[in-house]
Amino acid sequence: MNIRLVPYYCLLGFTLVVASCKTQSTTTTTADTKVKQSQGVYQYRDEDPTVKPFFSDRVGVIGRNGMVASAHPEASQVGLAILKAGGNAVDAAVAVQFALAVVYPGAGNIGGGGFMVYRDKAGKAYSLDYREKAPGRATQNMYLDSLGNVRPGLSISGHLASGVPGSVDGMVEAHKRFGKLTWAQVLQPAIDLASKGFPLTERDALGLNRIKTDLNTINPGKAYFLKSVAPADTVSWHKGDLLIQADLAKTLQRIQAQGRAGFYEGETARLLAEEMVRGKGLITEEDLKNYHSIWRDPILAAYKNYNVITMPPTSSGGIALVQMMRFTEPYPLRKWGWNKDSTVQVMIEAERRVYADRAKFLGDPDFVKVPATQLMSPEYLRTRWTDFSWAKATDSRAVRGGTIPGYESLETTHFSVVDKEGNAVSITTTLNGGYGSRVVIGGAGFFMNNEMDDFSIKPGSPNMYGLIGNQANAIAPHKRMLSSMTPTILEKDGKLFMVVGTPGGSTIMTSVYQTILNVIEHGMTMQQSVNALKFHHQWLPDKTIFENGAFSTATIEALKSRGYILEQLSNTLGRMDCVLVRPDGSYEGASDPRADNTARGY
Ligand code: GLY
Repeated sequence: MNIRLVPYYCLLGFTLVVASCKTQSTTTTTADTKVKQSQGVYQYRDEDPTVKPFFSDRVGVIGRNGMVASAHPEASQVGLAILKAGGNAVDAAVAVQFALAVVYPGAGNIGGGGFMVYRDKAGKAYSLDYREKAPGRATQNMYLDSLGNVRPGLSISGHLASGVPGSVDGMVEAHKRFGKLTWAQVLQPAIDLASKGFPLTERDALGLNRIKTDLNTINPGKAYFLKSVAPADTVSWHKGDLLIQADLAKTLQRIQAQGRAGFYEGETARLLAEEMVRGKGLITEEDLKNYHSIWRDPILAAYKNYNVITMPPTSSGGIALVQMMRFTEPYPLRKWGWNKDSTVQVMIEAERRVYADRAKFLGDPDFVKVPATQLMSPEYLRTRWTDFSWAKATDSRAVRGGTIPGYESLETTHFSVVDKEGNAVSITTTLNGGYGSRVVIGGAGFFMNNEMDDFSIKPGSPNMYGLIGNQANAIAPHKRMLSSMTPTILEKDGKLFMVVGTPGGSTIMTSVYQTILNVIEHGMTMQQSVNALKFHHQWLPDKTIFENGAFSTATIEALKSRGYILEQLSNTLGRMDCVLVRPDGSYEGASDPRADNTARGY
């Protein structure tokens, strides 16, 4: 078999636990929920007994009054407490965003940005773009030398790598418009976690130990996130150690007391601007003062009896998701079966065409005209499908676009919240790479993003994860860099049905796509769908990567015989955090068993 094992992402090692999913009756106990649920809506049928479709046999958490699924147990607990205190989904989401900035510093943030998709209980949909922006002094060629060559690493680590953060403004806007509890109430849990500390999980400890060298070299003389400034193994973090972040607590208190001005003006802005001067970064107090998130019209797209509510540009994710769903809508995926060769083939071909479009057309809509309606129109998609052939894989070089995107980071994070009235929030937020630029703002105690690397820093030249773009995503002052984040909400027959999203850089859209189809086409529960092993194709490089076990031998052989190149990952795809509304109106919270992700409901 022509399958190579590749170390796909430079992440912590994950133990692959593969278990079959049998029809079973399982008692799930959380702090708040003890329910009997029947799992086994979906039955995998395959002649190859060595192939199992699921990463684990985790079952979903069921609640009737509210649900939070996030990357960290402490953050999910914060969201649940806010819901129980009478907060709505937006209150809980704001509290979770700030809690993640404390307990999940690899991707949770106040020094980064993100996107929120919101559907209120009456069915009205909103999207908020709080993506970072290029500083005012940024220039198109700022990462190139005098010969026009990329200066390696400058857009990835250190002070020059950061865009102007949007997360705090985004949360202020979301809360101002939809929050019910006070701002002070939703900030308090994060302040408590930072000032009193929280016990590290094993994964938290490994993550911080992994960046010890960077912390010392990029932040000389600062002790942030180090157990000790002495670089010895004996001072590594361990599971259960308490991480106290006194300066971050003070920053959060300023945000609590002053709102937007607690971050974009005054002490925090001064500390951030001083840090930039110290490290030759570009962000100024004026950049901070001028940053504003934007309410945008969400993408609304019909798919059978579902309605997809998703993120418009500056994300590429929403358009891509709708394109992929519409490409495959005419095919009987359920009849063919989950991850059978025909199912996988049409999905790969959809993904190939969508990523070629992404590279060519997408960028910040405030700077470039993105033909969103046309890209998602059935007529356009039909013309894109005319070269599809069952006999042979389409050659990516023949699909227009002509550049070679690579892969972005898994170090983003997603969370989903639904309250008892049915208000639903889907947020994906990021520093870009794990722990962002690795710069910690002196005196303020938080990591800055390295989101500038999501721009196309030189046409045709790959970024940190091999991503190549073009003029639509070139750097310009105050412009937002293109994203793949795809926070999404689905309605079924006009009612709230699913809240879904994941980190994973360029693999985000394909993971969201599969997670949705697993439920609505293959009949999986939400948790089964999250557990399900995944695959990904992104036009170029022209290959399909897949989690170990995702494809049966029969599927692999059938695809290979049609010219598909397959690579089995030594790592995993996605960290989904989702909520499904079940037929009886209860919520199924599904968190990804591939990491510390946790759902909490009541
Ligand atoms: N930084 C990853 C993304 O926004 O897609």
